Amino acid sequence: MADKEKVASRYDMWNSFYDKIDNFPIIGRPQKKWKSQAIESLELSGDERVLDIGTGTGQILTEISSYLDNGKVIGTDISKGMLRRSKRRIEKDGIGEIASVRYDDIENSQFPDNYFDRIIATFTFTTLPNPRKTAEECSRILKKDGKMIVLDTGKPSNKVAFLFFIPMMLSAKLFGRTHMDRDIGEILNSNFDVERINSHMIGMVYTLKCKIKK
Ligand SMILES: C[S@@+](CC[C@H](N)C(=O)[O-])C[C@H]1O[C@@H](n2cnc3c(N)ncnc32)[C@H](O)[C@@H]1O
Repeated sequence: MADKEKVASRYDMWNSFYDKIDNFPIIGRPQKKWKSQAIESLELSGDERVLDIGTGTGQILTEISSYLDNGKVIGTDISKGMLRRSKRRIEKDGIGEIASVRYDDIENSQFPDNYFDRIIATFTFTTLPNPRKTAEECSRILKKDGKMIVLDTGKPSNKVAFLFFIPMMLSAKLFGRTHMDRDIGEILNSNFDVERINSHMIGMVYTLKCKIKK
């Protein structure tokens, strides 16, 4: 099975537990806050076309929709199980006029050039089999004056934090096919000007603001 199919089948398997784990208070509260801050960093004025890469169960679609009057948000994923969940959320939250989801592999996206005003990816870049190809695709489908916000995990520079990080990183690799030690900033750097705009959990979680290189 190719890496991409393995990732998709892992998330297909997890789709019914995903929100339950994420809503667990010790994880859920801070994550919700970080995601809200990432959405605020999109600086939406209301008429943008926004892409949520690897939308999963569509956790951030409702909040993004609340910023959009005439704009649209599209969530994409390669896991059919996750897409089923996000569709249900859109129906339940009554945001179908603004939000939609569809199957799209961001490493080989079906969207045209210069299509999105904003791109957001929360905890997706560490799960992608080929993040460099994704960086290229994002710079292709994002408008030249657009903005991308990436919230994800990474190696902390603090030595004590690193000791806590190692077991988390190894179990995420083993059970989640997630590469918490990936240097996403360095990967995005070939196509984007990247700025780290905040860090949480002693640097284990951070947000990047990315603009296409001129
Ligand atoms: C850790 S989950 C994050 C979900 C959501 N963004 C969140 O914050 O809750 C990563 C998601 O990325 C999706 N994904 C992985 N590779 C992908 C790809 N090449 N294209 C689109 N989505 C992908 C997975 O199927 C999964 O739903």
